[in-house]
Amino acid sequence: MSVEIAQKRLSVPDIRARKGGRPIVALTAYNALTARFVDRHADIVLVGDSVAMVEHGLPSTLGATMEMMILHGRAVAKSTQRALVVVDMPFGSYEGSPKDAFRNASRLLAETGCSAVKLEGGQPMAETVAFLATRGVPVLAHVGLTPQAVMTLGGFRTQGRDRSDWGRLQEDARSVAEAGAFGVVLEGVVEPLAAEITGQIAVPTIGIGASAQCDGQILVLEDMLGFNDRVPRFVQRFGDLGKDMDAAISAYAEAVADRRFPGEANVYQPRKEDG
Ligand code: KIV
Repeated sequence: MSVEIAQKRLSVPDIRARKGGRPIVALTAYNALTARFVDRHADIVLVGDSVAMVEHGLPSTLGATMEMMILHGRAVAKSTQRALVVVDMPFGSYEGSPKDAFRNASRLLAETGCSAVKLEGGQPMAETVAFLATRGVPVLAHVGLTPQAVMTLGGFRTQGRDRSDWGRLQEDARSVAEAGAFGVVLEGVVEPLAAEITGQIAVPTIGIGASAQCDGQILVLEDMLGFNDRVPRFVQRFGDLGKDMDAAISAYAEAVADRRFPGEANVYQPRKEDG
């Protein structure tokens, strides 16, 4: 008889309760294979719209679509047991009106099996966050450097270098938190401001290029695994898998070219004839 130990999946209130406590570990994953690894160690698996760049080779996250997010979100939700799965709302799927946002967010929840959605934008998105949160859609907000606004921001620029911007950024985080977001991703925000915001809002902050004082941290999995030769300052490479993958593929190519692969152990023989 096989005994299955039921794994309880972390819930939105579980994550919310980590404010000021044990840091929340969050990472991205876009497919079943990597999600299974991430699920063993992370509290949140984010199916980020960075999937458009990492998996689909697009130049920015603006090319992510609902279909893309649903396909990858479903693969990740199906192959994880413990982590809270959050799926990004793609550019154009929520900014038009709170009703549009609800229609698309409810599709993401229903069609992927994820537990929450993430959307970018501070104070101007607070009404939408409230609309979703009061209708059963848990929202992780994302403020500071918001990659979907790369055109408006004029590039991937660290936010809050000028103290004159601090008030606006604090107001962004405060308004989405008060509107009902269960957490706020702070991306590309100068360290002291990220630490200050963390102390000012009642829900957990999850930093990326922000501060060790945040209530949790998130990185893009492929960045921290070492798949890219150059990574921004805020990324620490915890592995060198790009190099390992290159070496393995090169060894395979040589073995095929030299007819060393397949070897005896990799091929099938007919049954031995009796007598
Ligand atoms: O799309 C993404 O990967 C993100 C991050 C916060 C890493 O939004």
